[in-house]
Amino acid sequence: MFHQDESFSLIIFGATGNLAQLKLIPALYDLVAAGLLPPKMSIIGVGRKELSNAEFRDYSYRVLHQPNRHHQHPIQDDLAQKLLDRMHYIAGDISQPAIYEQLSAMSQQEKSCDNKIFYLATYPDLYQTIFNHLEDSGLNQQKCGFVRVIIEKPIGTNLDSAHQLNRLLNTYYQEEQIFRLDHYLGRETLQNLLTFRFGNSLFEPLINHETVDHIQVTASEDFGIGERGGYYDSVGALKDVGQNHILQMIALATMDAPTAFTNQEITSKRTELLRELIPETDKLVFGQYEGYLQEKGVASNSDRDTFFALRTQIKNKRFAGVPIYVRAGKMMARTVTEIAIVFKDQTKGLLQHLSQDQDHRNILIYRIQPNEGIVLRFLSKKPGFDLQLQDEYLQYCYKHSAADLPDPYLRLLIDALRGDQTFFVDAAEVEAQWQFIDPLIAARQHLHPYTAGSWGPIAAQKLIEADGRKWIEPSVSFCSL
Ligand SMILES: NC(=O)c1ccc[n+]([C@@H]2O[C@H](COP(=O)([O-])OP(=O)(O)OC[C@H]3O[C@@H](n4cnc5c(N)ncnc54)[C@H](OP(=O)(O)O)[C@@H]3O)[C@@H](O)[C@H]2O)c1
Repeated sequence: MFHQDESFSLIIFGATGNLAQLKLIPALYDLVAAGLLPPKMSIIGVGRKELSNAEFRDYSYRVLHQPNRHHQHPIQDDLAQKLLDRMHYIAGDISQPAIYEQLSAMSQQEKSCDNKIFYLATYPDLYQTIFNHLEDSGLNQQKCGFVRVIIEKPIGTNLDSAHQLNRLLNTYYQEEQIFRLDHYLGRETLQNLLTFRFGNSLFEPLINHETVDHIQVTASEDFGIGERGGYYDSVGALKDVGQNHILQMIALATMDAPTAFTNQEITSKRTELLRELIPETDKLVFGQYEGYLQEKGVASNSDRDTFFALRTQIKNKRFAGVPIYVRAGKMMARTVTEIAIVFKDQTKGLLQHLSQDQDHRNILIYRIQPNEGIVLRFLSKKPGFDLQLQDEYLQYCYKHSAADLPDPYLRLLIDALRGDQTFFVDAAEVEAQWQFIDPLIAARQHLHPYTAGSWGPIAAQKLIEADGRKWIEPSVSFCSL
């Protein structure tokens, strides 16, 4: 995949932080384990902690053995060593030139052309100073070899700040150098939506307003905010997952077919769809779980949302009049993420006398996690002498357990090395996301309390029931390994 002679430097600003611990260092190990580590690649961590190279390697070794990551894959010492041998560390303050002088010196030692990726695993208010120093020290120059920059959410906190950040990025870099990472786009189960939808002739022609009654998106977690209180309390559910992950799911499930499987085409189709989403400010519920105010790092009078439910519609011919209902939150009844496409009721005609007001509609479920799969509910005759109806299921379950599916960070890291931006977000897309979210934030009025372990506030039920519909209880009975 990479030319033997190509040399790469991955420079991680914030290598001692939480993101690097939980995601990046483990993903780098996975890169080695998958045999995909470019032969000439060095990894340079930057942080304030005073660590020598050897101490940074020890630290990384311990990170790999943390129980919350890789517990299903035992770490192999020989592979870990292969990674650690490539790791270096520079201690210092990111806002001071000393770090960049050391980086330049390291870069000049390289005999061949060095491709550089700057991974900003640190706070957004440091971006400007980092970019400035990289520019002044010549590290941004692409004399030979590429320079790319990866940044993580949050990409702004509203449309205005996202626009400012995009302008800042574009001051220093071309769009093709900028990789805005939303790890949801790296999920196998989401990426497969494109193949499933556009590679089969069966389903796509049916997904439109003539056959689809409505769409539901559920992204619930049965746990709270853990140690992330300080961060979470500054954003809340709608900004934490709604602005990015949920909108990505809706975009991939409903966007028009790209004319080619290219970054430009796929990203522009996602963006087009996002621009067509109508923020229905009167169809919106915010909630907070009981006990949230006692969580570590949360202000005692916080009015932050830990749950939201909303209705939206797509302003295009294909989906005219098809509502999309979304609910997402923490401390809910079950951890599950899925998109359910609910088709119109066919039992109203010929079989009406047998359906007895039961809901027998066909449903196509894209289960993102857990019990990853694609499931289709259909109506069948119950075996026997009388004509009776029963629901049955066709299901495709991912043959691997979730732990064996490619890790989203690993996948996106490989894409960044290859320069493939298909599953990264560009400036226009992130602004289209905020364009949808900002009016919802502005319209927020009540905050409904809900019991931990429930499906959210009663108001969320009323939101969908007002349209004569019900939330689908996500099943865990299918695709359980
Ligand atoms: N944590 C996650 O799971 C997650 C997920 C998605 C996105 N993000 C985003 O990723 C970014 C980092 O988050 P995080 O949770 O990893 O934060 P964090 O745990 O607080 O880590 C921050 C890192 O930045 C370094 N740093 C801060 N100020 C510095 C300075 N002046 N000079 C040198 N190094 C400095 C810290 O070094 P020292 O520790 O050595 O001081 C540390 O390595 C944030 O923008 C966050 O929103 C995080």
